[in-house]
Amino acid sequence: MPIVVPTVVLTGIGVLATQTAEYGDLSDAAVLIEDDHIGWIGPAGSAPSADEQVDIGGRCVLPGFVDSHAHLVFAGDRSAEFAARVSGTPYSAGGIRTTVEATRAAGDELLTARVAALTSEMRAGGITTYEIKSGYGLTVHDEARSLRVATQFSTETTFLGAHVVAPEFANAPADYVDLVCGEMLTACAPYARWIDVFCEQGAFDADAGRAILLAGARAGLGGRVHANQLGPGPGVQLACEMGAASADHCTHLSAADIDALAGAGTVATLLPGAEFGTRADYPDARRLLDAGVTVALATDCNPGTSYTTSMAFCIALAVREMGMTPAEAVRAATVGGAAALQRKDIGYIAPGIRADLIVLDAPRPIHLAYRPGVPLISAVWKDGRRLR
Ligand code: NIG
Ligand code: FE
Repeated sequence: MPIVVPTVVLTGIGVLATQTAEYGDLSDAAVLIEDDHIGWIGPAGSAPSADEQVDIGGRCVLPGFVDSHAHLVFAGDRSAEFAARVSGTPYSAGGIRTTVEATRAAGDELLTARVAALTSEMRAGGITTYEIKSGYGLTVHDEARSLRVATQFSTETTFLGAHVVAPEFANAPADYVDLVCGEMLTACAPYARWIDVFCEQGAFDADAGRAILLAGARAGLGGRVHANQLGPGPGVQLACEMGAASADHCTHLSAADIDALAGAGTVATLLPGAEFGTRADYPDARRLLDAGVTVALATDCNPGTSYTTSMAFCIALAVREMGMTPAEAVRAATVGGAAALQRKDIGYIAPGIRADLIVLDAPRPIHLAYRPGVPLISAVWKDGRRLR
């Protein structure tokens, strides 16, 4: 006997912020959830009947947030590094090695428990899809087991063996690139959808980045690049040249970088939690949006630069510091994130789309920026199942 899942109709939605041109923001709306997808949306007055009815009480409903950039598989604590930064020590990519040491020493159970805790925070805060990167193992064994852990929580997993050169290869960085492109990739590809490289001074240059993205593509992995985070550099151009889905950070951009992003259709994923956590200047989202670049917002959750799982916090920063309107920031955190993961089945609300929905305890989406730090997410549906 097939399992029959009861249908659910959400009524009394004050604003249904669909993030689509077709439906826009619908007021006094209803949504029908059928199994794992949205069956119908429209005016509350014409809502179809369903097995169950949930009254949203005039609150606002949004698509679940799509976090397209997060480093969740790690152990250890870097709060002392944060404390030093608060009193003026600048961030450097070298801090990654501290987490690498702790991650290698941790068992799978501990790593799994950490990812479970972080993803549970994310879901409570309205993130219904999260990308998870490796990158704190930097050996064949530790990168592969990091990704094995990640696959228990998401299908959007990313091999980031090229986070920094592993300490054992400090004097032979080219050999480390060979390892990443060879044995490490072979061990990791079965557990990954994407490959990422930190293209920055102190990490990997454009040639190494190109070799790594090419090897990944041959193994069937889509490309992503940590680009232009700490200073100007070749990361964005590399991402565009290689047809990467996304160039992430984009904090230090030239006019040519912006043209390249617009021309290539590579998404610019902005991570304001990292600028907050490293006390750096924020990226200029306005320049990107005005040039027609697709912008995503993501948490970059990691222990070094951005130890937050809150997309609402990122939205508030984007509005306050990056020249985004509240509507643009919400769009970047939903449809933008979906574009960065090349997903068409999430990030917006329309019939046939996955029923990933969040209820804000507020009348309008702008409250995400207007009430910073307040936990406004009062209900979450993921694949049609109510999580909270
Ligand atoms: O996205 N930039 C590279 N990776 C992380 C930081 C990693 C760390 O410091 O542990 C980021 O900011
Ligand atoms: Fe990152």
